[in-house]
Amino acid sequence: MPNVLPGSFDLHIIDTCNLNCKGCVVLDYLQDGRITNSRYELSDVKEVIENLTRLDLHLEELKILGGEPTLHTNLDEIVDYLLSTNRFDFLSLVTNGLNFTPKIVNTLKKLDRLVISVYPLEEDLGDIIQASDLYKDLSSHVDVSFWRQNGFHLWGEEEDNIPYSTKLNWERCYQKDTCRVITKKHLYRCTTTYSEKKDMCTWDNTQQVVDFINSDIPLSHCAVCPFPPKLQKWESNNLPIDTKNFHRGINLIKNY
Ligand SMILES: C[S@@+](CC[C@H](N)C(=O)[O-])C[C@H]1O[C@@H](n2cnc3c(N)ncnc32)[C@H](O)[C@@H]1O
Ligand code: SF4
Ligand code: SF4
Repeated sequence: MPNVLPGSFDLHIIDTCNLNCKGCVVLDYLQDGRITNSRYELSDVKEVIENLTRLDLHLEELKILGGEPTLHTNLDEIVDYLLSTNRFDFLSLVTNGLNFTPKIVNTLKKLDRLVISVYPLEEDLGDIIQASDLYKDLSSHVDVSFWRQNGFHLWGEEEDNIPYSTKLNWERCYQKDTCRVITKKHLYRCTTTYSEKKDMCTWDNTQQVVDFINSDIPLSHCAVCPFPPKLQKWESNNLPIDTKNFHRGINLIKNY
């Protein structure tokens, strides 16, 4: 029996996007324009999965994201490859829902779960999708859910009037269970340490990885990562471009 790693693991396959969210945890880290993830080709994805196979590890959920994963030109090949590996129970993808071309929709139908992040642009994308033929088709194949992202975390900054400590940050943080990140060389317990390139584990041996994932000891970065961090209203770093891409995305949905 393989060693099951509970929780959700993020695989970042692209470092570009059709939106410019201010403070995106990987494309505008700490709001200084820092891009902290990389583009992975199919060969890179294979290297990540080969680590799991070599150490006989099985994930509860593998999540594909980025950047905007539907912009990856080889998404279909990556999904087909991942599905052939049998290294996880559920395959999910997180998208901003603005690139639903027929080809992409066919790929997305192969997944177990699709999460659509909805940003406060001109109209509610979730409502538009739910009223569409595209949604009828998609949701008959894959479990679709919506994350309405009206507020964005300002990582590293405290909210007013909340007590913080390393232990409290760790205990309150959802990231350690739902946003573990796997790369060719390392595993991280959260997107923040992935962006910082801190507190990581190597793929050297099975027990070390199992202990790292099951550990309930705060990471060293939790000492300077107040959780919950300050929340700011979602904003675009480039509203004209994002509005144009929003309209293009809506047209794809309505004309599906
Ligand atoms: C990095 S995005 C990648 C997938 C896709 N582009 C999207 O937006 O859904 C994954 C998730 O992280 C969330 N996210 C990114 N930066 C964030 C921040 N600073 N605070 C809160 N959520 C954030 C996004 O809203 C999205 O739900
Ligand atoms: S849509 Fe997703 S990847 Fe793109 S900038 Fe916004 S949060 Fe980041
Ligand atoms: S460093 Fe700690 S508190 Fe910050 S996101 Fe990671 S697990 Fe959460």
